[in-house]
Amino acid sequence: MMKKKEINIGIVGARFMGRAHSNAWYDVKQYYDLPFTPVMKAACDIDPASGTAFAERWGWQGFEDSWETLVARPDLDLIDICTPNKQHMPIAVAAARAGKHVICEKPLAMDAGEAGQMYRAVRDAGVKHMVAFNYRRVPALVLARQMIKEGKLGRIHHFQAVYYQDWLVDPEFPWVWRHDVTLAGSGAHGDMNAHTVDLARFLVGEIGSVAGDEHVFVQERNRPDGRGKGEVTADDATSFMVRFENGAMGSYTATRFATGRKNYLRLEIFGSKGSLVFNLERLNELEFFSREDQGSLQGFRNIMVTEQSHPYLSKWWPPGHIIGWEHTFIHEMGDFLTAIAGDEDIQPSFYDGWRCQQVLDAVSRSARARTWIDIPPAPITSDK
Ligand SMILES: NC(=O)c1ccc[n+]([C@@H]2O[C@H](COP(=O)([O-])OP(=O)(O)OC[C@H]3O[C@@H](n4cnc5c(N)ncnc54)[C@H](O)[C@@H]3O)[C@@H](O)[C@H]2O)c1
Repeated sequence: MMKKKEINIGIVGARFMGRAHSNAWYDVKQYYDLPFTPVMKAACDIDPASGTAFAERWGWQGFEDSWETLVARPDLDLIDICTPNKQHMPIAVAAARAGKHVICEKPLAMDAGEAGQMYRAVRDAGVKHMVAFNYRRVPALVLARQMIKEGKLGRIHHFQAVYYQDWLVDPEFPWVWRHDVTLAGSGAHGDMNAHTVDLARFLVGEIGSVAGDEHVFVQERNRPDGRGKGEVTADDATSFMVRFENGAMGSYTATRFATGRKNYLRLEIFGSKGSLVFNLERLNELEFFSREDQGSLQGFRNIMVTEQSHPYLSKWWPPGHIIGWEHTFIHEMGDFLTAIAGDEDIQPSFYDGWRCQQVLDAVSRSARARTWIDIPPAPITSDK
């Protein structure tokens, strides 16, 4: 058998997202027909002890304790960034300048200025780039987009998004990097609203203006190393209203204080002809209401998005044999590798990450100014 060409991958960040991405890099070749073999060449983390153990466990061939060394390695073709947000920009820009393809976790950057810099770097280098907004690759949400494009909802009137977690409602939960605005850029907002802003752009269109509100409920928390208290400078919760460029209205809440909710992302989209409801905790399902259904049987129907004809499902199991959260990352890596192989652009790109960041920034500014803010027109354009 002829040996396939290889694509050598390096990953930075060896904890939560490092695990989710490693799982996907490990599995992707089994479910996608790729013209080359992805090779898990090297992992990197500033914590050498847990980073080395991570590399061994997940099958990375080598380990580096400095991202500068990793990115400079001539044997790597692709860099996967799974670090806290503050490191995204320097790693991505260096990787692009070194001629590597780049996939980066969300939010793309600390702010829109950095995100624009990153987009320009990958565009100028001519490398492929992707932001890891993995919910764009939930089959039910791809189906939702198809239905909206086909006109099944008619004109969209409302896009309602909530993203609830509750891990901070415990005041004893320790201080982590996500509480520091200088390390994270923002809190619940950049972490969770980033996903739902991206999904709105995926499903409904561009956001034109925003009016936001943000709050920190617990001002300081114990440092895990026992060195006193750490100040919480990143929002615990951010809500905002939006007006889309196409006239649709929207509302958002992201909070880490939704007692009892663990990772509850719910979208409700209401149009002139029908409606869709999605709940991440039941990600194989999509609720659909059509005004074309007549009479006493009219009502929301629950579509089980597990048929072979549904997006991505032909790669998986027979109907009804559900998939999970980790599969969205396999779709992400598989689609990215396919785009690299075919020399095609892929969405969500760094352009999409930068546009999302513009909305996030405007919401934060609006919350501080307590007023509506228009999203600035794009100073740089998409590759498309
Ligand atoms: N797509 C999603 O659903 C999703 C979910 C959670 C987090 N994220 C994003 O993923 C990114 C990482 O979050 P996480 O939850 O995995 O964080 P984490 O704290 O679990 O892991 C971050 C890792 O990066 C390492 N690190 C920090 N600075 C580094 C540096 N300079 N060089 C090398 N390694 C460094 C840390 O030691 C740690 O191992 C964030 O941008 C976050 O917003 C995305």
